Amino acid sequence: MQAIELLHNRVSAPQLTAPGPSAEQLQVMYQAAARAPDHACLRPWRLIVLEGEQLSKLGEIFVAANIAKNPQLCEVQQQKILHKPLRAPMIITVVAKITEHPKVPEIEQIISAGCAAHALELAAFAQGLGAMWRSGGMMFDPSVKASLGLAEHEQIVGFLYLGTATKIRAVQPVDSTEFVSHGNVLAV
Ligand SMILES: Cc1cc2nc3c(=O)[nH]c(=O)nc-3n(C[C@H](O)[C@H](O)[C@H](O)COP(=O)(O)O)c2cc1C
Repeated sequence: MQAIELLHNRVSAPQLTAPGPSAEQLQVMYQAAARAPDHACLRPWRLIVLEGEQLSKLGEIFVAANIAKNPQLCEVQQQKILHKPLRAPMIITVVAKITEHPKVPEIEQIISAGCAAHALELAAFAQGLGAMWRSGGMMFDPSVKASLGLAEHEQIVGFLYLGTATKIRAVQPVDSTEFVSHGNVLAV
């Protein structure tokens, strides 16, 4: 796939099934993540790959975190939450690994980690895989972060659901004038 064709046509795949990415496809994706723009070469991200049993455990962690917040959580809701991570054969948790740096504030490091996540999505799509970046309250929950082994200075930027897309939506070009302007600098 040509680079511009990929950039113009990548779409998310909310419905994913097996198979997940192969070891070779993952390596291609990791190399793409490694080329995310990165001030001072901090590489301020890391990836936690979950599949199989690990996804079931993540569901249990999500349920426990939700019950801790709401002890009255009904069984139906618990089951719904339990099954959320099972919507794909693989989830990569993208973590912003933030360090103190005199020239690179936290926000820049989080943006870099987000770019790494997007690079993973692009490399997945280019290889015929489906991907869906998901977030939600669980990203910020201290018990979830601890269960995934995050340090205090680390933040989850997304859960990347990966697998085989059951359908791929076609995209239409957008009117770029909605988000582009020229020569708008106001005089002091
Ligand atoms: C940081 C971030 C978090 C997101 N979280 C969710 C989410 O929790 N649930 C969801 O349905 N879409 C979420 N999305 C949006 C989807 O990943 C996707 O981009 C969106 O559905 C638009 O589809 P498209 O990528 O095909 O244009 C998130 C996107 C980003 C960048």
